Amino acid sequence: MEVVCIGAGYVGGPTMAVMAKMCPKDRFTVVDVDANRIDAWNSDRLPIYEPGLDEIVTMCRGRNLFFSADVPAAIRKADIVFVSVNTPTKLYGEGAFFASDMKYYEQTARDILAYADSDKIVVEKSTVPVRTAATMSRILCSGKQKHNFVVLSNPEFMAEGTAVQDLCAPDRVLIGGDDTPAAQSAVNRLAGLYSQWVPANRVLKASVWSSELSKLASNAMLAQRVSSVNSLAALCEASGADVTEVSKAVGMDGRIGPRFLEAGIGFGGSCFTKDILNLVYLCRHYGLENEAEYWHQVVKMNARQRERFVSRIVAAMFNTLSGKRVALFGLAFKSDTGDTRDSPAITIAEGLVREQAEVVIHDPKASSAGIPGVSFVQTPYEAAAWAHAVLLLTNWKEYVELDYARIFDSMQKPAFLFDGRNLLDHHKLHAMGFNVYPVGKPALEHF
Ligand code: NAD
Ligand code: UGA
Repeated sequence: MEVVCIGAGYVGGPTMAVMAKMCPKDRFTVVDVDANRIDAWNSDRLPIYEPGLDEIVTMCRGRNLFFSADVPAAIRKADIVFVSVNTPTKLYGEGAFFASDMKYYEQTARDILAYADSDKIVVEKSTVPVRTAATMSRILCSGKQKHNFVVLSNPEFMAEGTAVQDLCAPDRVLIGGDDTPAAQSAVNRLAGLYSQWVPANRVLKASVWSSELSKLASNAMLAQRVSSVNSLAALCEASGADVTEVSKAVGMDGRIGPRFLEAGIGFGGSCFTKDILNLVYLCRHYGLENEAEYWHQVVKMNARQRERFVSRIVAAMFNTLSGKRVALFGLAFKSDTGDTRDSPAITIAEGLVREQAEVVIHDPKASSAGIPGVSFVQTPYEAAAWAHAVLLLTNWKEYVELDYARIFDSMQKPAFLFDGRNLLDHHKLHAMGFNVYPVGKPALEHF
């Protein structure tokens, strides 16, 4: 089978690489309008960092995995066209700051229509508003030629940092298709591709609309847990309870489960906020104001968590950060990725710059995010040297293993440590001399 994926980003690249590994008899081509990105996929320095990805790309590239900027040629030869282009929040006009901007997505429909010279199965991989498949079908059916197009929904549930393992062993693969014989035959063909490595009981079939909505719902439910636990963290700080103990006690209830209950500086990444805002927009579109407001609170709580973190720093450091060096450990929105899209660390860095702090950032993979007034250094030790405060903002494992006694010695006193991920041994750090401020727990101070 000839498979093409339009969009060589965080989803398109890893998804097709894993498919190429798992389906050695099929051919996978990933195309993008960004020729530099394609060049990077064809080089030894891939455009994204994802554990285990380099090995798979090296194994499959040139065998049954190809990266190309020639979109028309790839579309022409494809049996299946995955679409995994970006669907960011719309920043203009109707629905601004809530709806998804579908201009990139719609362009792919027009490209497929323009270049297709045979029947195609078109698969929505991007996260899209409910009923996007109808728009896609309308555009694809508007041409003069007689090719048949079937549009399926097959949302992607991988998380960054664990993309390879998520794709190799997904919790589920969801395929949405219409009831028509043509659509059901396309669903079976796509399911056949996945059946080469995914057990049949993990391949779930649904209607197109349910499939599209399930993706938004999954992200909303995950993000909602994070906002819920962060709201409890604020209550813990106010009342003297410990959010880690609360999360553990709550998560041991089998009905609730332990995952996505880690309090911190709030969720980041390119999708949670955008997808919930899209859900809010859709609820409003259907006149469901209360439901829209319910989900909007998840995003508002997340924004508040970032602000609260900065306010706590200002309050703890005697109400002024002006001229004080503050070291940020981590900029990526989570560990094991270089992605800084909507990273809480950026909002926090910007808040500190507004307070006139001297902000110095270290991250093992993320180098810059265009934040004015900050500097980057090569090691966490360099960042911490002569700093008043260290902020742990990304849960990189290497930050747990640092020599904190050395860091303490190199800092100005009193030395402050704000652990935005509750990753470190706070009592040990306090014993070293740090004033320690975890999230959702009492501070450990020396005054
Ligand atoms: P991305 O920005 O990393 O990649 C999108 C790529 O599409 C870009 O390289 C862009 O140049 C390309 N593109 C845009 N329009 C094009 C066109 N007309 N023709 C060819 N190429 C085009 O985005 P991403 O993070 O890979 O996300 C893609 C989609 O997948 C989004 O809808 C997102 O919500 C969803 N998603 C993302 C993740 C994730 O972890 N990043 C996980 C699941 C789902
Ligand atoms: C998330 C979902 O987990 C994926 O299933 C989905 O496919 C993807 O969004 C998407 O649609 O883009 P991702 O954003 O890559 O994946 O990473 P997550 O592991 O979900 O983390 C998101 C954010 O929540 C991170 O900033 C993380 O640090 C934060 N988080 C997560 C917490 O603050 N606490 C937790 O307990 C869990």
